[in-house]
Amino acid sequence: MGEILVTVDNLHKSFGQNKVLKGVDLKVAQGSVTVLIGPSGSGKTTLLRSLNSLTRPEAGIVGIGSVTVDFGKNPSKSEIRELRAQSGMVFQAHHLFPHRTVIENIVEGPLYVQKEPQAQARERALKLLEQVGLVDKADDYPSSLSGGQQQRVGIARALAMRPKLMLFDEPTSALDPETVGDVLVVIRDLAKAGWTMVIVTHEIRFAEQVADHVAFLDSGVIVEEGSPKQVLTDPREPRTREFLRRVLDPLAAEGVQGDQRLDVPTWAKFDHLSDPQTPYPRETVISGEGI
Ligand SMILES: Nc1ncnc2c1ncn2[C@@H]1O[C@H](COP(=O)(O)OP(=O)(O)OP(=O)(O)O)[C@@H](O)[C@H]1O
Ligand SMILES: [Mg+2]
Repeated sequence: MGEILVTVDNLHKSFGQNKVLKGVDLKVAQGSVTVLIGPSGSGKTTLLRSLNSLTRPEAGIVGIGSVTVDFGKNPSKSEIRELRAQSGMVFQAHHLFPHRTVIENIVEGPLYVQKEPQAQARERALKLLEQVGLVDKADDYPSSLSGGQQQRVGIARALAMRPKLMLFDEPTSALDPETVGDVLVVIRDLAKAGWTMVIVTHEIRFAEQVADHVAFLDSGVIVEEGSPKQVLTDPREPRTREFLRRVLDPLAAEGVQGDQRLDVPTWAKFDHLSDPQTPYPRETVISGEGI
């Protein structure tokens, strides 16, 4: 592993009696992509929110770059704020301001939080919009954009704050299938550009293609982690195997067999990125979502 950007050490978080994170350890190398997978309720969102200190764990340490917070030692508000400023988060559903144009949404943080001069903030916002393929939508309102386009604006908005780390929580799971590919292409391009990212996704094929590291979280602990090839194609732990079986072939996992099942053509299976000539998929794809 190269230089470590993110260190998570023995993180614990409960909601009432419900112990959600039970001693999570994780390291993320600078410039790498970590994909976090795991069953519903296993604590993936809670872990991401802890990295962004939107959730406050009771114990454990989160370090991002030179900023380290020991949650067991009652950190101050300014320490929490400083940790939060290290990462940008993209949620399942975009949270754009509906009464502001696309570009106004993007410059908001740089102008009012980071006090960046207006001309410079606008110029950077336009570059980011170019990067996510939406420069022609700069002056439109979010309501006139598709879900996938709104999500790409959400990504540009998070990038505009120049975080050291990007966090994605199921960024495509609320989208229409035909807009999923556009968002995944943007995330893949960020990976190529060297962004450090932690991504929660059920898009296993995508994970195979972009991840440097895959971690499987179950019941609040990381049960298995390693290269995408190892974890996704040859998992050691039975719990990882069972989870992947359910995600990749939910009907078989439920015992549905034979002519009850659709024969899915191979071109439609889990691949939003494979054809370099058509970066944006034109076919409807079967996306492993809703599992
Ligand atoms: N704000 C909260 N208050 C109370 N309980 C919560 C809160 N947030 C999460 N939980 C509980 O913590 C557990 C883990 O939730 P979390 O959202 O982290 O899971 P997840 O792995 O992201 O699941 P999914 O795949 O469904 O998004 C669940 O039992 C959930 O009910
Ligand atoms: Mg979640």
